[in-house]
Amino acid sequence: MTPDEIKSKLDDYKWYHAIQFAEGVVSPGRFASHIPPNYTLFPVFKFLEHIDLTGIDCIDIGTTDGLASFIIKSEGASLVVATDRGDRDEFRFSREALNLDVEYFPATTLDGGDLLRKLQASGQPTKYDLVVLSGVIYHSYDPLLVMMHARKLLKHNGLFIVESVIASGEEDAMFMNWEIDNPVREPNSYFLPTLKALGGLLRFCSCSCLTLARNGSRGAAIGRACRPSEIDQCSDILKLIIEKGACYGPLSYSTLESEADEEESSKISYSGPIGEIEIDAKTFSTRFSLQPTSPVTNT
Ligand SMILES: C[S@@+](CC[C@H](N)C(=O)[O-])C[C@H]1O[C@@H](n2cnc3c(N)ncnc32)[C@H](O)[C@@H]1O
Repeated sequence: MTPDEIKSKLDDYKWYHAIQFAEGVVSPGRFASHIPPNYTLFPVFKFLEHIDLTGIDCIDIGTTDGLASFIIKSEGASLVVATDRGDRDEFRFSREALNLDVEYFPATTLDGGDLLRKLQASGQPTKYDLVVLSGVIYHSYDPLLVMMHARKLLKHNGLFIVESVIASGEEDAMFMNWEIDNPVREPNSYFLPTLKALGGLLRFCSCSCLTLARNGSRGAAIGRACRPSEIDQCSDILKLIIEKGACYGPLSYSTLESEADEEESSKISYSGPIGEIEIDAKTFSTRFSLQPTSPVTNT
C-alpha cells in the first residue's frame, strides 16, 4: 500500500494505537491531542531499545492494534506472534500496510491455557525469547495467574516485560480498584499493583527483576526467566512456596528447574539500566519510527 492509500483508509477504523505508517501518515490512536500518543507503552519502548531483537522469537499478549509487535518485527525479530482476546481489523490493516510478517491469534485468551492450546494446534513454538504483557494484568480477576500463564511461554533465560496501571506508594502491595481513593474509572480494571509489586509478581513467576520503570500512573518491569532456585531477592516465604506449596496453577517450579537443564536457553541480551528508573512521558522520545512524534498530525 502506498502512503496515500493508507491515509485514505485510516478513517475506516477505530484506532487504539497511534501508528506512524509513513511521514505524515499516522493513525489517530485513543488519546486526545494533548496526551503523548501511546504513552503507556513508553517503558516498553525503553526496554526494547536495550534488547538486541535481531533473530529473536517474541510473543506479544494483548496486542490490540499491534504496535509493540510491529516494532519488534521491524527491528529484525525472526518470529513475532501477536495475540489478543479481542479481534481487530485495525491489526490486520496495519500488518498489511506495514508489510510485516507477524502471526496473529485473535479471540484467544491467555487464561485457562487457551493460547497455549492454539499455539500447539497451529505448530507455532510454545517457548519464546521475549514475552510482552503490556496493559493486561489489571484487566484480569487474577493478575498473578495471568502472569504465570505468560511465564510458561518463556524460555529459560528469556525476558519478560510486564506493563500495568500502578497504584501509588512505595510498598509492595496490590490494591482493589473498587476500594481505593483514586481508582481507574473504567469497568474492566480490577487489581492495581504498586511498581514494587511488579517485581514481586515477577519473582513468583521465577524471574529475576532487572528494571522497574515508573511512568506516572503506569509502570513496567522487565525480568529474566531463571531457575526457581536462582531467583534474585527470593524471600524465605517464596522459597517455602517453591519448595512445598504452589501446587495449583499453570507453573510447576520443578518443571522450570528441569527445563533449565534440558531445553535450549534463550540468548537474548538486555543492556538497559538496572534498578528503578523514571520515565517522563512529556519529554520521552524513541528511535522507533512507528511511534509518532507527538502531537499526532496528518499532513
Ligand atoms: C489496555 S490494552 C493494551 C494494548 C497493548 N498491549 C498496549 O500496551 O498498548 C489490553 C489488551 O489486552 C487484551 N486482553 C486483556 N486481557 C486479556 C487476556 N486475559 N488474554 C488475552 N488478551 C487480553 C484486551 O483485549 C486488550 O486488547
